[in-house]
Amino acid sequence: MTETILTPEAPSATKPGTGPDIIPGSNTRKVFVKTYGCQMNVYDSERMGDALSRDGYETVDSVEAADLVLINTCHIREKAAEKVYSQLGRLAKLKRQRNAEGGDLMVAVAGCVAQAEGREIIRRAPVVDVVIGPQTYHRLPEALARARNGEQIVETDFPAEDKFDGLPNAPEKAIRARGVAAFLTVQEGCDKFCTFCVVPYTRGAEVSRPVGRIIEEAVRLADAGVREITLLGQNVNAWHGKAEDGREWGLGELIRRLATIDGIDRIRYTTSHPRDMDEALIEAHRDLPELMPYLHLPVQSGSDRILKAMNRRHTAEDYLRLVERIRAARPDIALSGDFIVGFPGETDADFEDTMALIREVNYAAAFSFKYSIRPGTPGADMEDQVDEAVKSDRLTRLQDLLAEQTRAFGRECVGKVVDLLLEKPGRNTGQLIGRSPWLQPVIIDAMAGEIGDIVRVRITQPGTGSLFAEVVE
Ligand code: 5AD
Ligand code: SF4
Repeated sequence: MTETILTPEAPSATKPGTGPDIIPGSNTRKVFVKTYGCQMNVYDSERMGDALSRDGYETVDSVEAADLVLINTCHIREKAAEKVYSQLGRLAKLKRQRNAEGGDLMVAVAGCVAQAEGREIIRRAPVVDVVIGPQTYHRLPEALARARNGEQIVETDFPAEDKFDGLPNAPEKAIRARGVAAFLTVQEGCDKFCTFCVVPYTRGAEVSRPVGRIIEEAVRLADAGVREITLLGQNVNAWHGKAEDGREWGLGELIRRLATIDGIDRIRYTTSHPRDMDEALIEAHRDLPELMPYLHLPVQSGSDRILKAMNRRHTAEDYLRLVERIRAARPDIALSGDFIVGFPGETDADFEDTMALIREVNYAAAFSFKYSIRPGTPGADMEDQVDEAVKSDRLTRLQDLLAEQTRAFGRECVGKVVDLLLEKPGRNTGQLIGRSPWLQPVIIDAMAGEIGDIVRVRITQPGTGSLFAEVVE
């Protein structure tokens, strides 16, 4: 990801939709999908679920009910990969139990850990039947068929063919089941090679999906009731493609076109690299009411020395000037970012530069991490690795500051009148949850609308992690 891809530790268990033509009964195979990591993994899991449903699989929501467990993994930080191995340990136990009872359990590992570790996964966890990297998901049904004949399969090529062309379109029923806000991957991979990051190795080189495919998919989503799409890419604002008019488009032009699709009322995108924020994209923020005023724009550090060592290829000043230009175009835009503390060589003074940048930008939301060594990346071999205790201390200070900014942003929203897209029931009966333009969850009285409605509300009070609002006429 270029970064995060939005929410680095996005909600986990995802349930790919079940297909329309499942034959009920004991012959139906059952799959449980567990998704770690970013939104792109959530999207990929959905698409793999679509492919499996065409193969006769029904999605279940527990490991116990499944014949196949598919784990879609994240490799961005060390802890994420370790979680996978401990889960595989538990699955090995379950498989032994099943075998003792004359049954079976298949296990497939997908995602960035699969790509990075390959056959090593089967060596460490022989319970695994299939290891499949992000660029070969279209080969999953065939890999599973071969695995059922007793082979252990490792698919980690970067094939010439486009995986999305080989994966079936989501059936309308599955899209509806996933709700009124959907993800749409437009770009994958990264050529930037930040020195801390595994993404260029696990997701491969930067590839943009063709304009026509993206428009088709957006129209299909809209026809199935989707009102908000989030365009995904590790480097989403590096997306480019040859368009209907024969010209080369960037993300700004693409968003302008998508905004004309009937039914698509809200557009977001993530994750962006500061170097790829071009004028056309900034103008899209200025001109398009459909483009939500929220931008995830990771900077990682506020120290020029560290930015250089990270190979970010811009300075803190470049970033601040860019933020100024974006805010001039769209004054109400909310910014979020990613930060890494304790990158090799980071001194107290470097860290203070990051704190100063955060104070200057004033973020509405943010994700922050201790630097985690990723084997095979240049950062792993750098001298001056920072002590864990120092990293923890810096992370606490940085997160305190960011949390205060997020709370202040919530308080400033009170009294504002905004449009909410109602997405799901609230935790308490009688409530609905919608998203504000700034991506905050907002709770309203359930009598005030239905899921899928966009309603105008006044924010009345901040809550913990969400806001409360009442409908205005
Ligand atoms: N250590 C800590 N954080 C990392 N990120 C990426 N690689 C690492 C790493 N090795 C963070 C960056 C990125 C987000 C997705 O995860 O902040 O933007
Ligand atoms: Fe993002 Fe840099 Fe990683 Fe690319 S290498 S995904 S730009 S953090």
